Amino acid sequence: MEKRRKVIIDCDPGIDDSLALLLALKSEELEVVGITIVCGNVPIKEGGENALKTLEILKALHIPVYLGEEKPLKRQLVTAQDTHGEDGLGECYFEKIEGAEVKEGAVDFIIDTLRKEKVSIIALGPLTNIAKAIEKNKKVFENLEEFVSMGGAFRIHGNCSPVAEFNYWVDPHGADYVFQNLGHKIHMIPLDVTRKIVLTPNILEGIRRLNNPIGEYIVKITKFYVDFHWKQEGIIGCVINDPLAVAYFIDKSLCTGFSSYVEVVKEGVAVGQTIVDKEDFWRKSHNSLVLNEVNSKEFMYRFLETVFKENHETLRKLKEVI
Ligand code: BDR
Ligand code: CA
Repeated sequence: MEKRRKVIIDCDPGIDDSLALLLALKSEELEVVGITIVCGNVPIKEGGENALKTLEILKALHIPVYLGEEKPLKRQLVTAQDTHGEDGLGECYFEKIEGAEVKEGAVDFIIDTLRKEKVSIIALGPLTNIAKAIEKNKKVFENLEEFVSMGGAFRIHGNCSPVAEFNYWVDPHGADYVFQNLGHKIHMIPLDVTRKIVLTPNILEGIRRLNNPIGEYIVKITKFYVDFHWKQEGIIGCVINDPLAVAYFIDKSLCTGFSSYVEVVKEGVAVGQTIVDKEDFWRKSHNSLVLNEVNSKEFMYRFLETVFKENHETLRKLKEVI
């Protein structure tokens, strides 16, 4: 097998972040060197605890979790506890993991890791930690291998305003700073593709029938999320945005897109909107690869195959019904 790719996962768990962590940690292609927490769906304290809870399920508490920025660069923090629940994990209120501690200093961890070795970053939350790290030491980002960010909306409505997606809307200054200063093309996974990734009641029922602790966990934490989607978006099931960023990082053939200059609106009525200059009006150098098509069925197969790889037989049946 090829060498595992080293990756830092920067996230704000969050129900779909937790699913993305499960996928990343079960993926043989990846070596998760650390998890950094940013404020977003929940304040960082809850985000850190939720990362530990996810690690505990996989008996992977050796992976370090670092707390990062408590607030966006300029705006007040607005969390998404209406979407993810007060505790960030669908109001399951799992017990705190005893004997495992989060560490401080996500921004320094990102910088120190990049200083030592080539590593990629998959960002599943607002880009505040990354913006701070670039601001503090831009040079080390020469060692960044790849950067995938779940965020933005190209030709689809937002989820925080008619035009803005949550991660970039929470910290538009941080997001735009990263787009303008990273020095690498950002692989942007917008709502255009993630909205096509739906855990349907069929799939959830199949997962329940796997009789597997990870399956039970997924069914539990998504219940609140499913209710929210019905109330808010009229969708039966739930959109799981963040795991697509992980799956795409591993297998680029899952999404296709185009190279473009992107900037994030920082103030005013369109705050958080991603302006994607697909037609090159501004002739600015392209800072992004915007992914706007996805093979959602293939994604779902991969997700289930990876997370439940031990359940061959039931998984084969499950794949027939999705
Ligand atoms: C993004 O916002 C968060 O609520 C999700 O975790 C995801 O990262 C989708 O807009
Ligand atoms: Ca997230």
